[in-house]
Amino acid sequence: MSLSPEILQKLSNIVGDSFIFTDKEILNHYGHDETEDYVFPPNVVVKPANAQEISAILKVANEYKIPTTPIGARTGLSGGALSVYEGIGLSMERLNKILEIDEQNLQVTVEPAVINQVLREAVAEKGLFYPVDPSSMGSCWIGGNIAENAGGARAVKYGVTKDYVLNLEVVLPNGEIIWTGANTLKNSTGYNLTQLMVGSEGTLGVITKAVLKLLPKNNHNVLMLVPFYDAAQACEAVSAIFRAGIVPSALEFMEREAIDWTLRLVEGISVNVKPEHQAHLLIEVDGNYPEILMLEAEKIMTVVEQFDIDEVLFADTEDQKAALWKMRRSVAEAVKSNSIYKEEDTVVPRYMLPELLSGIKKIGEKYGFKSVCYGHAGDGNLHVNIIKGDMTDDNWETQVPLGIRQIFELTVSLKGTLSGEHGIGYVQKNFMDIAFSKAHLELMESIKRVFDHNNILNPGKIFPDEL
Ligand code: LAC
Ligand code: ZN
Repeated sequence: MSLSPEILQKLSNIVGDSFIFTDKEILNHYGHDETEDYVFPPNVVVKPANAQEISAILKVANEYKIPTTPIGARTGLSGGALSVYEGIGLSMERLNKILEIDEQNLQVTVEPAVINQVLREAVAEKGLFYPVDPSSMGSCWIGGNIAENAGGARAVKYGVTKDYVLNLEVVLPNGEIIWTGANTLKNSTGYNLTQLMVGSEGTLGVITKAVLKLLPKNNHNVLMLVPFYDAAQACEAVSAIFRAGIVPSALEFMEREAIDWTLRLVEGISVNVKPEHQAHLLIEVDGNYPEILMLEAEKIMTVVEQFDIDEVLFADTEDQKAALWKMRRSVAEAVKSNSIYKEEDTVVPRYMLPELLSGIKKIGEKYGFKSVCYGHAGDGNLHVNIIKGDMTDDNWETQVPLGIRQIFELTVSLKGTLSGEHGIGYVQKNFMDIAFSKAHLELMESIKRVFDHNNILNPGKIFPDEL
């Protein structure tokens, strides 16, 4: 589709000449995120300054029925920010301020384009803690975190984005601007529109301000890396740690190749990974009292020593901790640079993890693909990277989708679901029938219609092509 000069003029009148773009290069730039190699450029990119301008843009979009896609930092892994039906690319980048850190109430009010890590550091300076830490925290934005209900490594103890969102200012698709709730920790007042917005992947409204809950910062942690000779045992150890009474602040799983590839990509990390190590657990406990953390670490040792493990590495310096975290956070990038791949974001109740992993390997054998798995084992959230390697294009296109469907069927049969933290977006929407009945999907579609009668806001996401 192309937009008429009249529409472009209307948009330009709203945002000003210097904030509207139609050059091909710029459109391409805003047409991709971190999802495989998809590129879906919009016809025009606009960069509004505030909720009022967004409201005016959405009114134009409704009048002319123009698909409009909110675009954040483009670090997403499910294609949520791709303009799959072209139209208007609504870049949120100018709404990038931390508006208020409320030290009395332990809350912060932010605009959506604040980088996760910038927020974490700003509140840390005041002795406060925003725990949600996706691997992309150095570049992802809070708005996108909310839209996708992002998780990360600390979710196992502290929860995911939804657990920190108290109130949102949202521009609805019809241009109305509302606050969804109140700045309170408790709220039993009517339907919970705040939480409906969280994880709605930019399909129900455009978030323009968020009030987030903070915690007091703790200053101590212990980090250990445990090599397992058997990957299934690493998965079994995960639920055993909780059953021993410990809630780690991170409990991450990495198959050996995830680490091998990362070590090749990232400099300055030395970990002695042996070919016989099938998987590692990266385990952290945190809190205020080092003595208690040492006791907890010892307890974890007694649990993992019941399995077939090699020598445990305790990170003794801040540098070593940073290196291990850098290694973990770079896995996705390392896989990406290694081969054409597809990443699934399976999640099951954590005790089902061994069955999920072995099932994925069997499905891979059946359909002829190799997989490298890693992720937030404490949450039962396993990122499954399906590697193209030297697979033929034909098999990649015909066999792999069948295998992915089976992986999701397995996940759901284990009482899990399709995505733990990356969202459904563009790439997983045609698997939604595995997780939901027709009645359930129709209910969700009805909700979408109530908010967005003309289906202008981020169309082509979440819902399967055919219901
Ligand atoms: C991670 C991202 C890919 O866990 O979710 O590294
Ligand atoms: Zn993750």
